[in-house]
Amino acid sequence: MTNYRDRPDAIAALVQDDRVHRDVYLSEELFALEQERFFATTWLFAGHASQVPQAGDYWSLELAGRPVMMVRQTDGSVRMFYNRCAHKGAQLVSEESGNTGKFFRCPYHAWSYKLDGKTLAIPFKSGYEGTRLSECESGQGLTPLPQVVNYRDFIFVRLSKEGPAFADYFGEVLQSIDNLADRSPEGRLSVGGGVLRNIIQCNWKMYLENINDAVHPMSTHESATQAAAALWHGHGADEPKPMAMEQILPFGSGYEFFDKMGGRVFANGHSLLGVNFSIHSGYAQLPDYEAALQAAHGAERAHEILQRSPQNCVLFPSLAVKGSPQVMRVIRPLSANRTLIEAWSFRVAGAPELMFERAMSYNRLVFSPMSVVAHDDVRIFESLQKGLHADGNEWVSLHRGFDAAEYSATTLTTNGTNELLMRNQFRAWAKFMAPQPPASSS
Ligand code: FES
Ligand SMILES: [Fe+2]
Repeated sequence: MTNYRDRPDAIAALVQDDRVHRDVYLSEELFALEQERFFATTWLFAGHASQVPQAGDYWSLELAGRPVMMVRQTDGSVRMFYNRCAHKGAQLVSEESGNTGKFFRCPYHAWSYKLDGKTLAIPFKSGYEGTRLSECESGQGLTPLPQVVNYRDFIFVRLSKEGPAFADYFGEVLQSIDNLADRSPEGRLSVGGGVLRNIIQCNWKMYLENINDAVHPMSTHESATQAAAALWHGHGADEPKPMAMEQILPFGSGYEFFDKMGGRVFANGHSLLGVNFSIHSGYAQLPDYEAALQAAHGAERAHEILQRSPQNCVLFPSLAVKGSPQVMRVIRPLSANRTLIEAWSFRVAGAPELMFERAMSYNRLVFSPMSVVAHDDVRIFESLQKGLHADGNEWVSLHRGFDAAEYSATTLTTNGTNELLMRNQFRAWAKFMAPQPPASSS
């Protein structure tokens, strides 16, 4: 077994120009290092503010093995703390979500904390007189996460004190969140309809790569698209389609369609697939909604918002959003060979309910493990995780479209089937797996 911890050169050697070594998917040692380095210094999506609408609402989750919680404050802001009592470490909340009222109370010895994390009360406090409790971490109340940014209600955190500043880390790719949020004439989204969860026996990178894989639908999803095409056979091209048909049929578009949709990469592993058009571009127009959007944002901005319907935008490494339908996928790595995927639908304030129905329908049809699409992908991901144990070839090919000039270009827009979008993810992975975080600011 390679000792990766003490050998940054060995980690760097796993990511070559046009291929990656199988250990990036298989090694538990690398996964432990990812928890410590990669997921600590990159910015992770924690949740959407609408998951905690009222003061006292909390949402607890694990981020890179750490228990954390989002808490809505009385002033309307959202704060994030570790879900860990300052006394001996019990988790303050055990439910995933709920309302704690005006304070948190630990179930072990009943220390209590205000919503802002400050200690409210300690039972039988006289026992601490003359001790050093107040100088110790345990006397400081709940530990806030060191770096938290609320970008248009999307809450991101950086677990390490060191690392790139939020704006530097994401840069222009934040426009994909603007595009999603601005689809609301009121500028407000809220999650709705529950969450679809799927634990897949594969490495998280396979899932993220696949989000940018525009050459697999033709083969992997052949049966679903052929079945849809057979059902719709005989209908006119302009005939209005039922929602499910409108959403599934475009998956059957050929290689050329997916190639021409175009892709773009950004520094730090982020990407946009479908810069020109996508499988979502052909959804039926909604004239009243478009008028409301023009009234809210002006004709030019409304046009700009609506004409962009990217297939996927990856905010590496934990979030993928679409502008239309209004959905997001959250990627939660659990171990080297287990990944939790969450698919959420958004309700768009000021928009017709039909748009929410589209989001719900899309999630059910495409991202649910019981859907006609995701089960094909899940089967492949689990097969990859097993197949890579074979002898004779320890490498995964990312050669499609490789061009050495891609290292020097600052803005990289390319054809949709170029595996540059995947190479870009691995280059960022190698960078953030270095023992020291690459850029230190904020
Ligand atoms: S561990 Fe929470 S009060 Fe003791
Ligand atoms: Fe797929």
